[in-house]
Amino acid sequence: TVDAQALQAFLDRLTADIHARHDWGEVANYIPELAKVDPAQFAVSIALADGRLLHAGASARRFSIQSVSKVFTLACVLGRHGEQIWTRVGREPSGTRFDSILLLEQEKGRPRNPFINAGALVTTDALLTGRAPREALSEVLAFLREAAEEDDIHIDPAVALSEERTGFRNIALANYLKSFDNLQNAPELTLGTYFHQCAIEMTTDQLARAGRIIAQLPGVSPLLTAEKARRLNALMMTCGHYDGSGDFAFRVGLPGKSGVGGGILVIAPGVASIAVWSPGLNLYGNSHMGTYAAEQIAKFTGWSVF
Ligand code: DON
Repeated sequence: TVDAQALQAFLDRLTADIHARHDWGEVANYIPELAKVDPAQFAVSIALADGRLLHAGASARRFSIQSVSKVFTLACVLGRHGEQIWTRVGREPSGTRFDSILLLEQEKGRPRNPFINAGALVTTDALLTGRAPREALSEVLAFLREAAEEDDIHIDPAVALSEERTGFRNIALANYLKSFDNLQNAPELTLGTYFHQCAIEMTTDQLARAGRIIAQLPGVSPLLTAEKARRLNALMMTCGHYDGSGDFAFRVGLPGKSGVGGGILVIAPGVASIAVWSPGLNLYGNSHMGTYAAEQIAKFTGWSVF
């Protein structure tokens, strides 16, 4: 068990330390709406097994969760279609950038994993099949709201539109997937759903609370079975940071899923759900100070899956 008071004092010191460093990284510039965000921001929230929620910094500020949404979409798809999804998408780290198209030709349109963009387009496509985009998005939002036990979680339409206008790589990926018959819907429909799912905005408080089901903390909603949670954690550990996944595992030692909005959900299974946010990114497109914070928290608490 962790001394919550000591951990809170540590989070306050960490927040001050991060602001003093002035080493924020670069905000994502390929989505105009995200390029506007001030990089000099940091937030952390930690949901503990005893129900407490600790936080420091801008933990009530909403940010674009972007690829962190991919964990929750996959959770919905596993609930809806079970193991069938693995015929269409793999479970191996790609070692390539999150938006890479390189392996897709070599591997005949079956993306390496559900967290790179190509793989997430496939899971979103599976979630969409048989209904309208609005319904598929409602399912993801309902899942997040139930997990976080809070209704005030929404999509930022300006971010979705911004990405729709500039998402040429995703448009290419979706069309390429379609050429291999690995999209069931029209590419525009799958893309529209995907861009809106990525444009969900949350605070670190909300994200840490939503992550409790992946951490399988006591008393949380039974939305996920223990087996599914274990698998999501395995994928987060091996693929959650794209070609930076090995580095994240090495530095933090916990499963994590990043988003290009600067958020990271980090899971200490059975112990805590941690959300960090800082919009400046590192070379891999993952939050620069968010990764640093996760590393410092793991060091302070001793939380590790190893
Ligand atoms: O599809 C994209 O490029 C963005 N909506 C999401 C990418 C992302 O978050 C990568 N993460 N670090």
